Amino acid sequence: MRSQDTPRKIIIDADPGQDDAVAILLALASQEIQVLGVTTVAGNVQLALTEKNARKICELAGKTETKVFAGASCPLVRPLVTAEEWHGEAGLGGPTLPEPLMPLQKLHAVDFIVQALMNEDPGTVSLCLLGPLTNMALALIREPLISSRIDQIVLMGGGFFTGGNVTPAAEFNIYVDPHAADIVFRSGVPIVVMPLDATNKVLTTRERVAAFRRLGTKVGTATADMLELFERSDTGRRFGEGGPLHDPCVIAYLIKPELFAGREVNVSIETVSDLTMGMTVADWWSVTDRPKNAIVISEADADGVFALLVERLERL
Ligand code: RIB
Ligand code: CA
Repeated sequence: MRSQDTPRKIIIDADPGQDDAVAILLALASQEIQVLGVTTVAGNVQLALTEKNARKICELAGKTETKVFAGASCPLVRPLVTAEEWHGEAGLGGPTLPEPLMPLQKLHAVDFIVQALMNEDPGTVSLCLLGPLTNMALALIREPLISSRIDQIVLMGGGFFTGGNVTPAAEFNIYVDPHAADIVFRSGVPIVVMPLDATNKVLTTRERVAAFRRLGTKVGTATADMLELFERSDTGRRFGEGGPLHDPCVIAYLIKPELFAGREVNVSIETVSDLTMGMTVADWWSVTDRPKNAIVISEADADGVFALLVERLERL
């Protein structure tokens, strides 16, 4: 087991995307965390862009030794759905970041996840999943033994009492690959779900975005440029001022779990109905005997999350 003062080893699986990018920056800036690797998946944009964007962000952070891997280019069963309207054609709308010079690892992301979990001591590696769950599901299929070796999965996904953001019923990450999500939630791995119920409370208001710009650093300016896009998007109008900053909440939870609150319940995934495909169904009042397979976060201290982000990103 991991002792309190040793860094927590994590693998970040992401589909950068601006909010994924800020989450990766937060992880790379935090001494409590050791990033074993960043694996990428198709989601916000195609895989060829998400893997390149992950390398751009690692270079922006000055962490070019970070290992970046490409994974699944499409969901397990359904056709890929992307989100250029939110993230821009190349997936990192806002700043102009140079083409990456650091290499993409040759190993497939799924093989890296399996190898890392089989090589590291059991219970010492956490998975931070920020995109569709295709790579995680494929790793569990490839080597079921990893399910007992994972410390915990902390994932951004789902919408319970706040509805969905891509259909009335479903949040994007789960909607894109509901079959992968079903495999992950049935795996028996301890799961913390960071859903829209929590992340919709963490809004990129003008003052919060300005705090990044005031850092006067490459990272601060690029972060402000990325997050201003949320302000200009229809998402911003949906919430009055600013858009929800989803993925960094996953990393913030690892660093300061006291910023969040939730409840352990059963979460099941809709994989049949066209009307509710990808819906995350929580047995909030234990009206069934379904196993409690996840802690669902419902509360977030937005000011605390942004204070942590500014304090850590200033270090890069
Ligand atoms: O629904 C929000 C999630 O979908 C975030 O992870 C965002 O990056 C997209 O992947
Ligand atoms: Ca994401």
